[in-house]
Amino acid sequence: MLNTALNLNDYTQLSSSDLDRRISEAKAILGSKLLILGHHYIKDEVIKFADFTGDSFRLSQLAAESQARYIIFCGVYFMAETADILTGDEQTVMIPDQQAGCVMADMANIWDVYECWEELQKYYPGEIIPVSYINSSAELKAFCGKNGGLICTSSSADKALSWVFAQGKRVLFFPDEHLGRNTGVKLGIPVKNMAVWDRTIKALVKNSDNPQIILWNGFCPVHLRFSTENIQAVKNKYPDIKIIVHPECSNELVKLADASGSTEYIAKVIDEAPAGSRWAVGTEINMVKRLAEQHRDKFVIPLTASPRPCINMFKIERNNLLWCLENLIEGKIENEVKVSPEIAFDAKIALDRMLSLK
Ligand code: 13P
Ligand code: SF4
Repeated sequence: MLNTALNLNDYTQLSSSDLDRRISEAKAILGSKLLILGHHYIKDEVIKFADFTGDSFRLSQLAAESQARYIIFCGVYFMAETADILTGDEQTVMIPDQQAGCVMADMANIWDVYECWEELQKYYPGEIIPVSYINSSAELKAFCGKNGGLICTSSSADKALSWVFAQGKRVLFFPDEHLGRNTGVKLGIPVKNMAVWDRTIKALVKNSDNPQIILWNGFCPVHLRFSTENIQAVKNKYPDIKIIVHPECSNELVKLADASGSTEYIAKVIDEAPAGSRWAVGTEINMVKRLAEQHRDKFVIPLTASPRPCINMFKIERNNLLWCLENLIEGKIENEVKVSPEIAFDAKIALDRMLSLK
């Protein structure tokens, strides 16, 4: 066993073939003790080493069901935190780069959400249930667990909101304004019944006499890059093209698109589409490129010629993955993601509510 950790800098100069070979060897040594989970936005050269890939919902389910001693999460930080919350004390979750955060998740912190919550209680005492998109810190998940709320992903947001409405309550939805609005619209809630809480001035800006959803005005810069003009431009060029977007895009865009859904849903739709069909995809570029590559019998392009990558997903590289793996073989845990037991307890309540939604 090593006393000092292997140095990450020593991994940055390795050749592509050495990285591939050593990652494969390390995986073989660790065998069933190790599970590598990979989100769809992770680049090809890394995701090929994942045992499973998926959207945030599927990856949460896989983590919750896993018996592996070690889980390396090739995704962003909130995903690894979620995996830690959903796994047992004897399991260890790691992330190849601890700086791989989520710009949207950083748009809501626990203190600001408390402030908003207190303010809203003045108008609607006891009438609101908090729903956090999974793209949020463990503290915010715990806040939901403690206040009768739950977590959702882009593939379970409609069920989560329906669960709240069935109790005759209003929703405080954070941090993604757009997923919240798109889900409300999908459920038939009029936009005039959605208020917006501006996190920068800490006040309700778009109010409503009877808000059923109060939307926190966070957003994903990757998905707000897409515009209705992009849709018009691809439709002008390819009149028969179908548009599919992620529900983190604006409602104007979702309304114009032929379909919208989570990354797993997008992958499934393209998978099942007939040969020769044309698709413009409004989501992260690594995933769109992979779909185009995997479906050469179809025409798959990004919705804009200059899509924005998720800079955080990009931080997960073969060298930091290999560094984690080889340290692990030497008995050294690097980049562990550990949520404190008090926070994890309440956060798990909110996550379990999501996972048990029918
Ligand atoms: P999915 O759950 O659809 O994979 O989305 C995660 C995400 O961060 C999209 O930006
Ligand atoms: Fe966060 Fe957007 Fe990246 Fe998804 S694509 S992880 S929401 S910054």
